[in-house]
Amino acid sequence: MATIPNPAKGFHLEIKILYDIEKQLEVALPKMAEAATDPELAEGFLQHLRETEQQSKRLEQIFDMLGMPPEKHTMEGIRGIIADGTVMANADAPDALRDAKIAGSGRDVEHYEMACYMNAIEEAGALGLTDAVSLLEETLKEEQNADQILMAALQKNLALAGSEAAKDPAAG
Ligand SMILES: [Fe+2]
Repeated sequence: MATIPNPAKGFHLEIKILYDIEKQLEVALPKMAEAATDPELAEGFLQHLRETEQQSKRLEQIFDMLGMPPEKHTMEGIRGIIADGTVMANADAPDALRDAKIAGSGRDVEHYEMACYMNAIEEAGALGLTDAVSLLEETLKEEQNADQILMAALQKNLALAGSEAAKDPAAG
């Protein structure tokens, strides 16, 4: 059971959860890049990996502002979404269709992160922590941008998978 006696502790907990999420993704994103056969999709994941490393550093800056050491709080949500992504990465499917599914799994991650960051921005704002709000907003923009890149990869690979399936209607 979590003890959250006041809004400041609530925000601190949220930052610990976000730190855990980013650290999980620093491990998961290279695997998603490796699973992708579309070089653009792979590069999208690798570009977001570099952003994710900066996002972890921004959270470390916020821990510092709070006078706390960086610490992770484990929650199951991100682990479940990453595990679901692994199912898609290992799917027995035509390459373009698997890539579309992998891109979709990446979007699942980004949307979850966006919701968590939006919550954290509200909590920091309510506490008057404007510097923390700015750092969190910077990260939120990167997550939204990553979502757009993955959306484009999903659409491109779905179209490709569709035209390949039309050429060979007997398959599958
Ligand atoms: Fe992130």
